[in-house]
Amino acid sequence: MLSLYKNDYSEKEVHLPLQIDASMLLRYVEALGSIGWQAEGGIVRPVYSAAWVQAREQLAEWMRAAGLDVREDSVGNLFGRLRGVDESRTILTGSHLDTVPLGGKFDGALGILAGLTAVRSLREQAGQPRRSLEVVALCEEEGSRFQAHYWGTRGILGLIQADELERLRDDQGMTIAEAMRAAGLPPERYREAVRRDLDAFVELHIEQGRVLFDERVDLGIVQAIVGLQQRWVIVRGRADHAGTTPMDLRRDALQAAAQMAVEITRLVEQEGRPAVVTLGKWEVKPGAVNVVPDEVSFSIDLRHPEEESKQRLAAAIRIRCEAIAQERGLAVSSEIASDSPPSSMDPALQSVLIQVAEKCGASWRAMPSGAGHDSQEMARHLPTAMLFVPSVEGRSHSAAEYTTPQDAARGATVLATALYQLAY
Ligand code: GLV
Ligand code: MN
Ligand code: MN
Repeated sequence: MLSLYKNDYSEKEVHLPLQIDASMLLRYVEALGSIGWQAEGGIVRPVYSAAWVQAREQLAEWMRAAGLDVREDSVGNLFGRLRGVDESRTILTGSHLDTVPLGGKFDGALGILAGLTAVRSLREQAGQPRRSLEVVALCEEEGSRFQAHYWGTRGILGLIQADELERLRDDQGMTIAEAMRAAGLPPERYREAVRRDLDAFVELHIEQGRVLFDERVDLGIVQAIVGLQQRWVIVRGRADHAGTTPMDLRRDALQAAAQMAVEITRLVEQEGRPAVVTLGKWEVKPGAVNVVPDEVSFSIDLRHPEEESKQRLAAAIRIRCEAIAQERGLAVSSEIASDSPPSSMDPALQSVLIQVAEKCGASWRAMPSGAGHDSQEMARHLPTAMLFVPSVEGRSHSAAEYTTPQDAARGATVLATALYQLAY
């Protein structure tokens, strides 16, 4: 179905759906995916690292070549802007540039690059928009370096707390303020990132699960993003000699933590879908073959689409860990690293995406997101919507992550056409 529109502002005749340059989108994905790529496979591109800086420089160059005005804000988000007739209001699209350790080429990156391709096509085919259109590369969505989830988005929304700058440290002990300074961003100016001109945020992202792939559906329109609590647990026992300390006299922090891991997993398995828990990061001290471990720390990532169920499970986990520590004569403490309630996407924007998907002849389904996204924070403050494209076999947070060129291009076409509806 093709419709013809007239852009009153630029006097251009616009054909919908917009045509996007699919081969350029794929070249962008491959080129960006090579920045931070490791010999063993997968990308390491933590926020404010050399690879992250290099990726931003490459993106800025592509944005300029697309005819956009390029700007970075004080926390490190990068913007490419197509100025509207009314410059005071902006429609924003994009996603995050940082990756998880050894992550894939598509998580976050595809949303930025589809946005860039879409805005480039809009500039060429539709001319100047009524409201400004911007594509953004957001920073530290994953929290992989500083556990500072949605840092760039929180900067834009004015949600960064001053004490975080000196409190948040990476594994090397560097504070986030020091890392910002090293990347050329004066941390004391973090408040300058706040925006008050945003009318909407639309994020394209890979699904990272296998619903669309299994059902052979082209697009997911996200209704809500699950709630997520991340907690850091520390178990403290006593270091002893591995050869001379009888098993019944040990206070082995790892044995206690291992029992906690088994029981946490059992609790969440008993709860059943859609509850999920992951214990993905561990530290064992002193970390020697012949020493009984005296301190073990591990992370808990607990997700559920209903806040009440998430909090009930979190409480049950805490009580179980305390009981295990007591039975074994050890101490356990835990600290919440982040806790976000579920977040609903804007119904009117969901309708726009659905109408556009149908106009483009794409099949779609409404669905929740089990992964966290910048959109969940945006949605609490401005109208926000998410568009999912299929992930082959649902693989993500791994080098095996893949979205077919057809699916990526279809998503970018729907995104471009939706941005046209919103900004022209
Ligand atoms: C982000 O990718 C998350 O869901 O952890
Ligand atoms: Mn991710
Ligand atoms: Mn992501």
